[in-house]
Amino acid sequence: MTGRAPDAADIFAGQPSDPDLLAELYDLEHDEITEDLAFYREMTSRTRGSVLDLGCGSGRLFGTFLDGGARRVVGVDGSAALLRRARRRIRHTPALAAAAADARLELVHADATRFVIAARFGLVVIAGVLPHLDGPGGVLRCLTHARRRLTRAGRLVIDDLGPGQLPEHDLPLTLDWRRRLRGREVVRYSQLMRERSDDGLRVAFSTLVERPQPDGTIARLPASYRLWYPSSGALERLVRQAGLQVELTYGSHDLEPLQRDSERFILVARRATGDESERLGKPRVVARQA
Ligand SMILES: C[S@@+](CC[C@H](N)C(=O)[O-])C[C@H]1O[C@@H](n2cnc3c(N)ncnc32)[C@H](O)[C@@H]1O
Repeated sequence: MTGRAPDAADIFAGQPSDPDLLAELYDLEHDEITEDLAFYREMTSRTRGSVLDLGCGSGRLFGTFLDGGARRVVGVDGSAALLRRARRRIRHTPALAAAAADARLELVHADATRFVIAARFGLVVIAGVLPHLDGPGGVLRCLTHARRRLTRAGRLVIDDLGPGQLPEHDLPLTLDWRRRLRGREVVRYSQLMRERSDDGLRVAFSTLVERPQPDGTIARLPASYRLWYPSSGALERLVRQAGLQVELTYGSHDLEPLQRDSERFILVARRATGDESERLGKPRVVARQA
């Protein structure tokens, strides 16, 4: 899985379906996830600085970071459609709109493996993003950029599916869920093929959403994604290569230990001892989302 296309940072680019509709469906599913909010509120309040949300999607976590006392939140994402959803969320949520008006909440449209931001952050969050980065090379680039954006005492959180949630077999096309979208029921099916290697699990994941149209026909929205779930050993090696040191690992947002059947793989890291090579800059965003 090498040779990424120039727009590979946008998970909806090149899909045979409307990106804005895929982003709306994405929110329908992801906005229901709330079990990690207390964890992120607490991490923000402990690090007490500004937060860089790398691969922020439509900003599901923004309100939590502000509730946790973040002085400033910067969300970076490669998907223009998800950033449009994030702007919509900001407009419709008074606390987010107030933070954006004070320049305490900003969006940056950029690739998480090569973004340009001059600020330093007390907390960098990479939640659900590393599997999208096309393998070890992309993950290392992302972690190296993330490390450069950490303050001396800052913490980086990597948060992905745990070993207990990874598929053990290929899965045929299966009905995942039925939900309501703009007053009509939509149905999602998915299938996946997996390939295990020494460094983790590669997954080809395809979804198909069926959406009834006003004229009674059914629109079909296909999409497909290639994912890489590193083993804990592979991820810890990449974290070290990026100039970080692993501080803690958890198997859930309730801080349970990481085990073979854990639902999450959460890794907290900081800059490696001796990484004083870069002068700490003043918080300043140089690439800003229009
Ligand atoms: C599963 S979502 C997680 C969103 C958010 N972190 C959350 O927890 O709600 C993965 C996000 O990573 C973004 N993403 C994937 N590859 C990216 C890349 N190379 N650069 C920037 N964003 C990327 C996607 O657009 C998507 O918003």
